[in-house]
Amino acid sequence: MMSKLTNFLLVTLILALNYDESNSQGVQELIQEVKETILRLERSGKIKRDYEPYTEPVLLDEEGYDFVIVGAGSSGSALVHRLSEVSNWTILLLEAGGEPEIYTDIPFWSRLAEYTQLNWGYVSEKEDNIALGLKDQRIPLTRGKGIGGSSLINSLIYTRGTKEDYNRWESLGNPGWSYEDVLPYFKKLENCTIPIRDDLYRGHDGPISVQDAYQTKSGDVFIEAAENSGYKYVDYNGRTNKGVSYMQHNTKNGLRCSGESCYIRPIKHRKNLTIRKNSQVTKILIRNNTAYGVEFFKNGRIYTAFANKEVILSAGAINSPQILLLSGIGPKHQLLKFGIKPIHNLPVGQKMHDHIAYSVLGYTFNDSITFNFSETLKDESFINLYNKGEGPLRSINTVQNILFTRSSFEPNLQRVTDVEIIGLSGHIVSSSNNTGEIEVTNAIYENTFKQYSNQFVGSCAIALLHPKSYGRVELRSADPFVHPKIYTGFLTDPEGRDAKALIEGIREANRIMLSPAFEKYGIKPMDTPIYGCQQHEYDSDEYWECAIRHVAHSFFHYTTTCKMGPESDPEAVVDSKLKVHGMRRLRIVDTSIIPITLSAHTNLPAFMVGEKASDLIKEEYLLD
Ligand SMILES: Cc1cc2nc3c(=O)[nH]c(=O)nc-3n(C[C@H](O)[C@H](O)[C@H](O)COP(=O)(O)OP(=O)(O)OC[C@H]3O[C@@H](n4cnc5c(N)ncnc54)[C@H](O)[C@@H]3O)c2cc1C
Ligand SMILES: *[C@@H]1O[C@H](CO)[C@@H](O)[C@H](O)[C@H]1NC(C)=O
Ligand SMILES: *[C@@H]1O[C@H](CO)[C@@H](O)[C@H](O)[C@H]1NC(C)=O
Ligand SMILES: *[C@@H]1O[C@H](CO)[C@@H](O)[C@H](O)[C@H]1NC(C)=O
Ligand SMILES: *[C@@H]1O[C@H](CO)[C@@H](O)[C@H](O)[C@H]1NC(C)=O
Ligand SMILES: *[C@@H]1O[C@H](CO)[C@@H](O)[C@H](O)[C@H]1NC(C)=O
Ligand SMILES: *[C@@H]1O[C@H](CO)[C@@H](O)[C@H](O)[C@H]1NC(C)=O
Ligand SMILES: *[C@@H]1O[C@H](CO)[C@@H](O)[C@H](O)[C@H]1NC(C)=O
Repeated sequence: MMSKLTNFLLVTLILALNYDESNSQGVQELIQEVKETILRLERSGKIKRDYEPYTEPVLLDEEGYDFVIVGAGSSGSALVHRLSEVSNWTILLLEAGGEPEIYTDIPFWSRLAEYTQLNWGYVSEKEDNIALGLKDQRIPLTRGKGIGGSSLINSLIYTRGTKEDYNRWESLGNPGWSYEDVLPYFKKLENCTIPIRDDLYRGHDGPISVQDAYQTKSGDVFIEAAENSGYKYVDYNGRTNKGVSYMQHNTKNGLRCSGESCYIRPIKHRKNLTIRKNSQVTKILIRNNTAYGVEFFKNGRIYTAFANKEVILSAGAINSPQILLLSGIGPKHQLLKFGIKPIHNLPVGQKMHDHIAYSVLGYTFNDSITFNFSETLKDESFINLYNKGEGPLRSINTVQNILFTRSSFEPNLQRVTDVEIIGLSGHIVSSSNNTGEIEVTNAIYENTFKQYSNQFVGSCAIALLHPKSYGRVELRSADPFVHPKIYTGFLTDPEGRDAKALIEGIREANRIMLSPAFEKYGIKPMDTPIYGCQQHEYDSDEYWECAIRHVAHSFFHYTTTCKMGPESDPEAVVDSKLKVHGMRRLRIVDTSIIPITLSAHTNLPAFMVGEKASDLIKEEYLLD
């Protein structure tokens, strides 16, 4: 039973199922078991948890604050941490979801939260010729819902992006966002204690902690294989990211360091900060193009909060555009279609960037160099984690290594890495035949992967960092509780460049893995074709394109739906101070403002945006 459930976890971690009542029964049992273990160890004094429930003052029908912040996710957490340093500002933080779960601090088990109310449960619309091997032909578009937001359920991969990335932000007409401008915020927010680091680029006094990821033997061999294949070991958050490294993880003493645990938890008792959970904002109140408050839904009814200074949306790259649209800010024709009175015509939600990834490139070994799942429910593992910050529970998704490289299709950006390869010490088949809940179709599981169960397995996930294709977010309904329509647009670029670059990345991962370092562990590629692609010669371009169109998925890095840019940019929604164009007292502070694809996962950029925004706001109101 347990090995089946544990395996189920790995399976789903990688392909990231969406929350779904019908398949969640086994997960709910596992969640119960993990919770009981933690509580039992806590009661017997073997572990100590640092957590107090969130409480809030009595709620009035109408309340007034200086700032009303919508969303306690990555950016919102950083923002509220810094704004509430000004003790004479009153701040209301409204969060649609609830508190973290008892197990979300534990990296290995935290991803269970994805199958709970802590996930909004978005999936893509059905799109042509993509997700052909995923259930329902839909791509899970997971999003955290709770204090901490997506940083509560993400994979803890710690990446900033490069100098070239941020210099592009500035060159697109966004003064103040060059690398030189944002680097001080990346340094300010972190406490970096990893052994191999570019000290000039790293910080040591911030609330966000970064550590090297848990490693099994296969992680060390991956480094050796990459070095022998021409890559240098680098601190990829330093001077250059091109090269290989242990994965840097967003953990503190081995526990998850989320926006909640590292930014909000330590300051939640500040006097003039009010945090209201289970409070979903349904509308911004606007008069004369000026935001003066919000309406939110809590305990079955609507309340009003007024903002004397500003309303700030930090609801993330899917919900911030949705809230703008519901409030009359967005493409006029779309608003009229839903009977929403247009207030200001802006291209809200019209462009959504994301990173497409292929994560089932698998290998088998003849030796136990990979992750041992049978350790993850042992008391000793919990005790080790809470008391020493060590052991397998520090691992998330068995992710161990990261490598950034440049494909020959890198589209005229020069010097920007466009392919990322992640080394994992497991694969979706890891030691079981459980198929029930895997997000690839049963036919693919049965015919392609099942034969590799009960072996030592590892895998690589390959992501495209600067795809040309992009998606969009639109309203499905004027009802704020109905999920918006999300199109990934994956692999829709007319020249087919994205598929070619991803294929080159897959071949590069194979070149590294099949180089001599892994030979002594009897490495063999899982070369059974993805079911549905057998008609193509294995390893031909046609084969890989077919495989990608079947099982590639999102890395959950949605950006650009409220793009930052000058008024002259027809795609722009906010200016370089993050104020919504044509509006007053309304800002957006989250990953939706990121103007262009990034060579990074988006959690650290989200933290940075929150940090930088807090200074923009302080400069504006505290100068005289
Ligand atoms: C499964 C998964 C794995 C990931 N792995 C990584 C990783 O390893 N490394 C990495 O760097 N990035 C990762 N990411 C991406 C990263 O976590 C996100 O890009 C980042 O957290 C986004 O921050 P944000 O502030 O823009 O939005 P979020 O953190 O999503 O915060 C938005 C918040 O607003 C709340 N909200 C939304 N609507 C409303 C409303 N109407 N009223 C009130 N509140 C509302 C939400 O509930 C949420 O708490 C991952 C994401 C996911 C989902
Ligand atoms: C608020 O505090 C700031 C500094 O923290 C100070 O400059 C300002 O004068 C204060 N404003 C009021 C109204 O007290
Ligand atoms: C809270 O804000 C009010 C003004 O809005 C101020 O008078 C009071 O001193 C603040 N409280 C603290 C603890 O700073
Ligand atoms: C940074 O991390 C180290 C190691 O965990 C710790 O000793 C130190 O106190 C931390 N510094 C801050 C400012 O939190
Ligand atoms: C609308 O706002 C502008 C800018 O603050 C102001 O000049 C104008 O008088 C306002 N109009 C009304 C009707 O309040
Ligand atoms: C995995 O861990 C279990 C429990 O600690 C142990 O009994 C087993 O030998 C380990 N398996 C391998 C292959 O190391
Ligand atoms: C796998 O399936 C076989 C038969 O189909 C069964 O005997 C075995 O117990 C299963 N293993 C697991 C881990 O579920
Ligand atoms: C694994 O395979 C390699 C290469 O064939 C071989 O040298 C090694 O001895 C094998 N190891 C085990 C444990 O069988």
